[in-house]
Amino acid sequence: MHTAIIMDGNGRWAERRGLPRTAGHRAGAKTVRKIVEAATRGDVVEVLTLYAFASNNWSRPTLEVSSLMRLLKRYLVSETARCLDNGVRLSVIGRRDRLSRDLVNTIEHTERITANGSSLHLRLAIDYSAQAAIAGAAARMRGECSPEEFERHLAAAMHAEVGPPVDLLIRTGGEQRLSDFMLWECAYAELVFTDTFWPDFDEPAFEAALREFARRDRRFGGLSSARQSG
Ligand code: IPE
Ligand code: IPE
Ligand code: MG
Repeated sequence: MHTAIIMDGNGRWAERRGLPRTAGHRAGAKTVRKIVEAATRGDVVEVLTLYAFASNNWSRPTLEVSSLMRLLKRYLVSETARCLDNGVRLSVIGRRDRLSRDLVNTIEHTERITANGSSLHLRLAIDYSAQAAIAGAAARMRGECSPEEFERHLAAAMHAEVGPPVDLLIRTGGEQRLSDFMLWECAYAELVFTDTFWPDFDEPAFEAALREFARRDRRFGGLSSARQSG
C-alpha cells in the first residue's frame, strides 16, 4: 500500500502559539519521525511519500526557505542510522539542481546506504512539482504512448522511480487541495483530509486515517466487488 501525506499546517501551528513559523517546521520534523516509526512498525504501509518542500515553496521568505533546507539536511543526517536499523529505504523525489551541493551529497549518501531497506520505502518530495514532472515527461515523448510508457518518461523527468499508484493521500492542516502533489499517481487515490495541524498529527490520527481508508469502497471505474459477483 502506498500512502502519501501533504504535511500542512506547521506555520499556523506556530503562529497560534506566538512562535516563529520556523518553530512550526521544527515541530513538524518531530512528527515526521513519529509517523515514519508508526508506518515501519505496522505492516500495512509499504511506501510512504511525504511532501516536504514544494517547488512553489521557493516563493516563501528567504529565511524560512533556508531554515527548511537546514532542517531537511539535519533530518537526513540524523535519520540515516535509524533507517538502517529499521530496514527503511529512504529516497528523494523532485528536482535536485536548485538544492545546495551539500544537501544533494547528503541525499545521495542516504539513498546509497539505505538502498537495501525492505520494511518500508520512505520517499521525501523535495523541490517537487507534479506539473513540472508531467510536463518534463511530455517533453521527452515522441508521439503517442501508453500510460506504462508514459511512466518511463515521468521517471526520467523526476530523476527517480515513479513508484506505485497512491492508495491513500492524507492532508493535514485543514485545506482540501492537492497543491501540485503527485497528480498522476493519485488518479485513484482515496483522499483523507484532517483539520489537525501537522505538528499535532500523531500515531492515533494516522491509524484513524488508515481505518478510514479500509472502509472506502474502491471501484476503479468498475462496480463494487459485492455487485460484481451478483
Ligand atoms: C507545511 O506547513 C510545510 C511546508 C509547506 C514546507 P506550512 O508552512 O505550509 O504551514 P501553513 O500552511 O502556513 O500553516
Ligand atoms: C503544500 O503545502 C506543500 C507541502 C506541504 C510541502 P502549501 O502550504 O505549500 O500549499 P498551499 O500553498 O496551501 O496550496
Ligand atoms: Mg501550508
